[in-house]
Amino acid sequence: MGYIGRREAAPLIVEGLKRLEYRGYDSFGVATKNKGITLAKHQGRISENAGSVSRLKGKIGIGHTRWATHGAPSDENAHPHADCSGKIALVHNGIIENYSGLRLQLLERGHTFRSETDTEVIVHLIEEEYAKKKDLLVAVQEVIPRIKGSFAILVIAEDEDLIIAARNASPLVIGIGDGENFIASDMTPMLEYTERAIFLEDGDIVSLTQDAVEILNNGQKVTRPVELIDWSVEDVKKGGFAHYMLKEIYEQPQAFYNTIRAINQGSLPRFARHPDSITVVACGSSFHAGLIFKYLVEGTCKIPTRLEYASEFRYYPPPVNGLVIGITQSGETADTLTALRQAKAHNCRTLAITNVLGSTVTRIADATLFMRAGPEISVAATKSFISQLAVLMQVISNLCGGKEEGILLQAHKSIEEVLLMDLTDSVQFCKEAQSIFYVGRGPFFAVSLEGALKMKEISYIHAEGYAAGELKHGPFALLSEKTPVIALCMPGETYGVMMSNIKEMKARGAPVIAIGCIGDTELSDIADHFIALPRTDLFIQVLTTLVVLQLLAYRTADALGRDIDKPRNLAKSVTVE
Ligand code: AGP
Repeated sequence: MGYIGRREAAPLIVEGLKRLEYRGYDSFGVATKNKGITLAKHQGRISENAGSVSRLKGKIGIGHTRWATHGAPSDENAHPHADCSGKIALVHNGIIENYSGLRLQLLERGHTFRSETDTEVIVHLIEEEYAKKKDLLVAVQEVIPRIKGSFAILVIAEDEDLIIAARNASPLVIGIGDGENFIASDMTPMLEYTERAIFLEDGDIVSLTQDAVEILNNGQKVTRPVELIDWSVEDVKKGGFAHYMLKEIYEQPQAFYNTIRAINQGSLPRFARHPDSITVVACGSSFHAGLIFKYLVEGTCKIPTRLEYASEFRYYPPPVNGLVIGITQSGETADTLTALRQAKAHNCRTLAITNVLGSTVTRIADATLFMRAGPEISVAATKSFISQLAVLMQVISNLCGGKEEGILLQAHKSIEEVLLMDLTDSVQFCKEAQSIFYVGRGPFFAVSLEGALKMKEISYIHAEGYAAGELKHGPFALLSEKTPVIALCMPGETYGVMMSNIKEMKARGAPVIAIGCIGDTELSDIADHFIALPRTDLFIQVLTTLVVLQLLAYRTADALGRDIDKPRNLAKSVTVE
């Protein structure tokens, strides 16, 4: 994040970085320009070390929160990085692929490196050009063509009253204020100050002063539209909840309803209305949303649908001339972006589903459908996941004549009922477990994958989602009284065989927490614990089951005292392949 204006930059940037911590949180730092450049950075969380950084003086500043790629988390490897003279400072998001050769050359030319990062080469290259040109914008323009990889960079120098920024494949947004300007990886740190945003494009180099924004691309001045952001600052505050994740779980009825309302019969672009087949690419939870979609769209609309992890898409023969849907709440997941670019290269038409206006995926895809989840801060996807499903269910309604829309508009009421459920007994079982299996069939297999991901991600308990019929082909060897099985057993075509599977698991000593419908005494009799959900339509049962599994993961992680919003080793926005 960068700031230039009339306020003290450091405390404002530190507060902004707290909002960006979901992108990485192993170290952080700020550099300001006052008389000279001053810099403070620390390994660890912002909340633990903010003091010395916030006290830096100056009304121009840049800051960074890091998720280590090159070089372990440490004070030295934290950004900003300075040139040899300490007169130029830089922060960088992304990866410089050709850094090792550049580093050797710079060492040979006498530069001193203070970190193990790929980033530091950029500031030394700028140092050399700045010594020749005495103009920071020109120096950055000279350096950009020499670095390969993904980057969003911000640079300040002792002798210049501006911030220079550049982007390639990593997001940057300018926030336009009155007599002050902001720039950051997303809008969330600026929501208090402005709703006016400019989303930068790849290749843009920006000169940002207190009163002006100048954007260059390929050496030419360009103008980019100013967009109004309708997210409010309240959306990015905890609002009395213990964790963002819990707040976001509770926001799901509204997020689902808002998204259903926003997507209608005309929302699907013309090219996506009559596909012969569909390919979906996504990662993590978004992949699970894709799997639920595959079951539901094939079942309802009879359209053959292929689903690939975005990171594996390139290793299969690509679909030719088909419809490819990329699902990514952040709109910045590197693997999903790459898969969509590859699909386009094979003449496929591409449709993105995302939560973030101006995100990179919106620039790549031929068309975008936006969820209306509002900003999601917790690393674990919850309301964005439910909103992805809202979009995808509306896509199915579009493809098959809108028959589900009335039901979907009532779904938030069933989700609200689930939010009130007491899960104390089940939490007790889970928090003692060494390992937990989640099993289901049909779309509930996809739900079991998502439930297990939520549990392992935030509680650190090993959890696996399995197709219920697969457990006997190997994983049965792991069943014991220490490995509870969470069985998703809803009325419908899978019910009978799920009951048999549950009995098989119990016979091998595993305690079973069954999730089924209110009034199912047969299921409640065989289960060790029974979680009873409202009896509704299949689509809605998928949603309510998901929400109960999110809550179960949350309550278990909370009982174990985990760092729920920022689980270890994870970042929310995974911008590297
Ligand atoms: C889920 O809780 C995770 N945070 C993760 O699996 C996430 O869904 C994945 O990284 C994909 O992110 P995206 O939707 O922003 O592309």
